[in-house]
Amino acid sequence: MSHEIVPSTAPTRTLEIEVDGVTRQTLIEDRELLVDVLRDRIGVKAPKIGCYGGDCGACTVELDGKIVKSCIVLAAEAEGSEVTTLAGISEQDGDLDVIQRTFWEKDAFQCGFCISGFVFSTRDLLARDPDPSDEEIRESMVGNYCRCTGYQTYVEAVRTAAERLRVDSK
Ligand code: FES
Ligand code: FES
Repeated sequence: MSHEIVPSTAPTRTLEIEVDGVTRQTLIEDRELLVDVLRDRIGVKAPKIGCYGGDCGACTVELDGKIVKSCIVLAAEAEGSEVTTLAGISEQDGDLDVIQRTFWEKDAFQCGFCISGFVFSTRDLLARDPDPSDEEIRESMVGNYCRCTGYQTYVEAVRTAAERLRVDSK
């Protein structure tokens, strides 16, 4: 889907949201998408823009604990919510979390453009099922596009991350 360029109007609404643990306030237009507000008004660049149509997953964030594609959510709908981006799920000391680190070590991505969708989908899957089958892992990737890796490396990375999380929880 193409993204229609609409002439900008003056922002009229004050939005207050928590992004990666920090309360942010900004003026927005009613029509603005959450991904655009995160990137252009707040300056958080972890969510990427691939399709602007809810198809590719590059813009994925957690909104009050649920994964959403932020290109199909109006920013105004997120008033008072907590948004977590890929940049906000690292460990307290700034290290990558287990899923991020495993994806990195397993070369599960190349350019990294798609990584928000895959990491959040993996977090969601492993929270529901700590020991998924390869088929369940593949199903969990539906709605995420990667133009670089061919997907098999993701399956291997998710399998390894699941093993590591199971060991950590013992
Ligand atoms: S940019 Fe949001 S799903 Fe593709
Ligand atoms: S690693 Fe490049 S699009 Fe997925």
